[in-house]
Amino acid sequence: MTHTTPSVITIDGPSGVGKGTTAKRVASTLGWHFLDSGALYRILAYACERHEVSLDDIDAVILVATTMAVEFDFDRDGADAILLDGTDVATQIRTEAVAAGASMVASNGAIRQVLLQRQRNFAMHPGLVADGRDMGTVVFPESSCKIFLTATADERAIRRQRQLKENGNGVSLRALLAEIKVRDERDASRTVAPLKPADDAVVIDTTHLSVSDVVTRVLELAHERFDLN
Ligand code: C5P
Repeated sequence: MTHTTPSVITIDGPSGVGKGTTAKRVASTLGWHFLDSGALYRILAYACERHEVSLDDIDAVILVATTMAVEFDFDRDGADAILLDGTDVATQIRTEAVAAGASMVASNGAIRQVLLQRQRNFAMHPGLVADGRDMGTVVFPESSCKIFLTATADERAIRRQRQLKENGNGVSLRALLAEIKVRDERDASRTVAPLKPADDAVVIDTTHLSVSDVVTRVLELAHERFDLN
């Protein structure tokens, strides 16, 4: 039984930058656990919609955040199961409408507080790769391997469109770009846990990089920072 704190790699950045894909591949290569923190915010927004809870009713949203049962089952080949109260909602939570709701609930400090411990519980041996907006700044500030990914808004809209298409959701590039900009603005300007790199994060501009380039770079950093064999 190991008593040391589990190692954590944090991967933060704006929407559509490829955090999820990168984090999942890094976790899979290292054989570590993976936390998609954005999915928690998305599940909460989706659960509220299902329970007809208005996102402005903070007490009711907090009740949903406290009581919802969430289970992740990340398949290495990409077929993820994300269970909300026993039902797989992996596809349903990927719409831009749910993302907008997630960004709304995420701007409230009390709601973030409820989800904080839930996220920390994912830190388990042999290690965790956590992706989100505030993994390095708030949730795992003691991590010694923090990454912040960036890419132009145009490039992120293209990536998001490709991802949505794979899930069977078609959206125009213009609409996506507009939504990404609104979400970026809300995520970066909120007073609690705004989107910004931790002081000790390594910033990687991925605009002209492939996913494998980014994964390689993150793995190099992980090998530098941790005693991996
Ligand atoms: O990463 P993803 O697009 O799934 O996240 C959806 C929304 O959840 C983001 O726009 C952001 O507002 C919120 N979020 C957050 N903190 C995180 C992860 C996501 O505020 N750690």
